[in-house]
Formats: sequence, structure tokens, C-alpha cells
Amino acid sequence: MAFSMKTTANARVQVKQQASRNGRIAAARPVAKHVSLSARRQVASGLNTNTLAKANVRASISSNRSPLVVSASIFSKKDKNRTVIITGASSGLGKATVAALNNAGGHHIVMAVRDAAKAEQVAQELGLPAKSYSILELQLDSFESVKTFVRKFKATGRQLDCLCCNAAVYLPNQPVPTFTPDGYEESVQVNHLSHFLLCRLLMADLAKSKNDPRMIIVGSITGNTNTVGGGAVAPFANLGDLKGLEAMIDGEQKSMMDGKEYWGAKCYKDSKLANMMTVLQLHDRYHEDTGITFSSMYPGCIAETALFRQKRGWFRWFFPIFMKFVTGGYVSQEEAGERLAQVVSSEDCSESGVYWAWNGGAKTVGWYDFSMGGVRGAGGAGGKVFKCNPSAECRDKVLGDKLWELSEEAVGMTGNGLFSKKGGSRKVMAGAGK
Ligand SMILES: NC(=O)c1ccc[n+]([C@@H]2O[C@H](COP(=O)([O-])OP(=O)(O)OC[C@H]3O[C@@H](n4cnc5c(N)ncnc54)[C@H](OP(=O)(O)O)[C@@H]3O)[C@@H](O)[C@H]2O)c1
Repeated sequence: MAFSMKTTANARVQVKQQASRNGRIAAARPVAKHVSLSARRQVASGLNTNTLAKANVRASISSNRSPLVVSASIFSKKDKNRTVIITGASSGLGKATVAALNNAGGHHIVMAVRDAAKAEQVAQELGLPAKSYSILELQLDSFESVKTFVRKFKATGRQLDCLCCNAAVYLPNQPVPTFTPDGYEESVQVNHLSHFLLCRLLMADLAKSKNDPRMIIVGSITGNTNTVGGGAVAPFANLGDLKGLEAMIDGEQKSMMDGKEYWGAKCYKDSKLANMMTVLQLHDRYHEDTGITFSSMYPGCIAETALFRQKRGWFRWFFPIFMKFVTGGYVSQEEAGERLAQVVSSEDCSESGVYWAWNGGAKTVGWYDFSMGGVRGAGGAGGKVFKCNPSAECRDKVLGDKLWELSEEAVGMTGNGLFSKKGGSRKVMAGAGK
């Protein structure tokens, strides 16, 4: 969930040349608007420690969970030995999904993470049997790292059965955008473009699976304007005509895909919208030929994860309580992990091109349902999985095609899935077909 007030940049514009991108000199960016990634990483880890310190306060909320929601059919995969890549497996939803799949059995999990030592600690904490997991480094702020990850995965010789794109950053409180070494605003690349590239590079491998191949990109109600969280709380996800993404590819100093002024919370929501649109595109373009099941999902409001690391202490303390007792949208990490595990392996979620949600998917605020013994409607704990209708913008085919083509250009791919020699440059791409 992304509740944020718009932050305006108070520092202004001393301009300097930025490093060249893809062989071209990128346009100048305002220095005062640019926060280095390493600086932000330090801030992020500091806040993580703080988050841990609050863990006790929240423990009572986390432990108060509804009954197991994972469909029994996930356990029928026990002997199937599926290999599942999960990005961002070292925290929050990713970690909880690893735990749920481990409980179900029959999965080898490849933890695709930016911090291998942290992932190993998580594996120990969860008591994962040594042969049931491996850890491979993946820095989603770098296209090169995505390619290296794919090379290393292929070298393991494992048959991929499911790719689960879960990692994300949410940067609501920074007044200025952060740019990746590839020159894109951080949420655009980490949440959308790098996952887009990962999906494309692993498509052929996944298509070879005879073991129920699936490709998942985690979505959110925040990217869906037909929900309470996405449609009633500003900012609202909207990609406009994608002029901003186009400009980014051209090396211009843009941070938002719609081309408007930077707003960190909207960047996140837009990236989630792009995630869900990508899944619909993947389904249209590849399902029939490959048999892969393409899905997105909304896990519920997992109000205690590190996703909210930029929020102030009082917010991180109050948010889970508010979501649980006021809106009813709250779901524990454990239950959210079971939900994503369901999309990974349950028969219930074997239909392609679907955006899955539970318990009403937050289309309304919650109301107490005595027959269910819990809050219904708000996407929170309990309830059954169902096919949720994404917003009209998400289903806009023309915009989806445009997003797809621009994303290919951004990651340096041509329409036939090959990389252009120089990659990523709009002008190079335009000439490539001649
Ligand atoms: N929390 C919610 O209420 C909620 C609601 C709807 C949807 N979601 C979605 O659920 C997914 C997981 O979020 P979460 O709540 O579990 O947040 P989280 O705990 O912060 O997990 C995000 C994961 O992404 C990884 N990550 C971040 N930047 C990365 C980078 N540059 N390269 C590689 N990995 C990177 C993080 O790695 P580290 O472990 O190293 O930090 C972490 O494992 C996201 O897609 C989010 O949009 C969450």
C-alpha cells in the first residue's frame, strides 16, 4: 500500500553531465535531484535495523493470523520437484513464500537476491534443507547483473519451472529521484524493467518445462485504480502516454514514466501498473505457443514488511494496526507467503492471464462477515482466491503494446528477442531494422 503526501524538491538545480549510458552521453541531470544509490542503500540498511527493533511491538499482530489458506492442491506437487526462482527472497513476501513452499515440499528454490549473506541467514532461520535451495546474486538496478544471473542459472543445468518476480522498492519519502547505473529511475528499473528483462531471458528455458511452467510478477492494488487503496488514495497510478519512459530511453532527465514531475509514491504505483500490464502482454504474446501460465497477484496489505522502510517510525507502528482494525486489509507475512505459494504451484491458480486476489481484493472497504468469522472485502486475512478484474488502464491493449515495445528498447532488446549491438538507445533501435 502506498500512502504518501507528495514531497516537493526544495533544492534546485545545479546541473552536471551524467555518465554516458549505452555508449551515448546521457542528458544532464540536476545534481540536487540525484541521490546516489550507495547513499540510499546505507539509509535503507539503517532503517532496516530500526525496523527490527520494532519487531517485538508488532509480534502480537503478526501472530494473530487466520487459518491456513494455501490450497491443499499445492501439496500434490510434493513429488514433482519444481525449480522456482524467487526474486527478493530474502525479505517480506519473498521470504514468506520460500517458507510456504518449503512447508509444502517438492520445490527447489533459487533465491535471487542482492545480498547473498542475508539470504543464507534467512535459509538457516527457515531451516531449509541444504538441497532444497540455492542462492544466486541478482542486482535489479543493473541490466548487466540480470544477464549475469541468467547465465549463472543456466550454468546450473536446472530445468526452470517457475519464475516469480517479487522484489520491489517503494520510495515514497525521497524528495529527489534515485537513478540506477543504467540511467533509469530506481523503481522503474528495479520493479519493472529488470523483471521485464529477466522474464524475456528466461522465457525459452521456462517453455521447456513439462512441470506446469509458470511466470509470475507480483502486482498491487496500488497500481489498480479500481480498488480502495489504488483509486481512493492519491497518488493514482497512471502511465499517461509513456512519454517519460520514451524520454528516459533517449537519455533525457525524466524520472516518471508519464513524464511528469517526480513523485516517489507514484513511481511505485506506476511500476506496479507496468508489472500487471506486462503479465497481460506476456499472456497474449506467449501463452498459446509456450503453454506457460502467466499471472499477477495482490497479496493483501502486508503492513510489516521492509517495503515501508522509508516511512517514519510512528507510521510503521500504526500502519499494521490501522490496516487490521480499521480497513481490514491487513494480512500477515506468513499468510501472504501462502497466497503467493498458491500462485506458484496450486491447481487453483493454473489459468493464465489472471490477476489473483483474495478476500475481495480490496475493491471495497472491509465489513465484518459473521458467517466467515472475519472481515470480508478488503483483501486482508482469510477468504478464497479469485480472479480479480484489473483496472481499465491496466487492460488497455494499445498502451500495453506501447509499454512492451518501449521496455524492449529500454533493456536493449529488439522485437525478435535479440539484443541490439549497442542496446538501449532509441536511435540505434530505429536504425536497426534497415
Ligand atoms: N507489503 C505490502 O503491503 C505489499 C502489498 C502489495 C504488493 N506488495 C508487493 O510484494 C512484493 C514484496 O514486497 P515486500 O512487502 O515483501 O517488501 P520487502 O520486504 O522490502 O521485499 C522486497 C525485496 O526486494 C529486494 N530488493 C529491493 N531492491 C532490490 C534490488 N535493487 N535488487 C535486488 N533485490 C532487491 C529486497 O532485498 P533485501 O532483502 O536485500 O532488502 C527484498 O528482498 C513487492 O513486489 C511489492 O510491490 C507488497
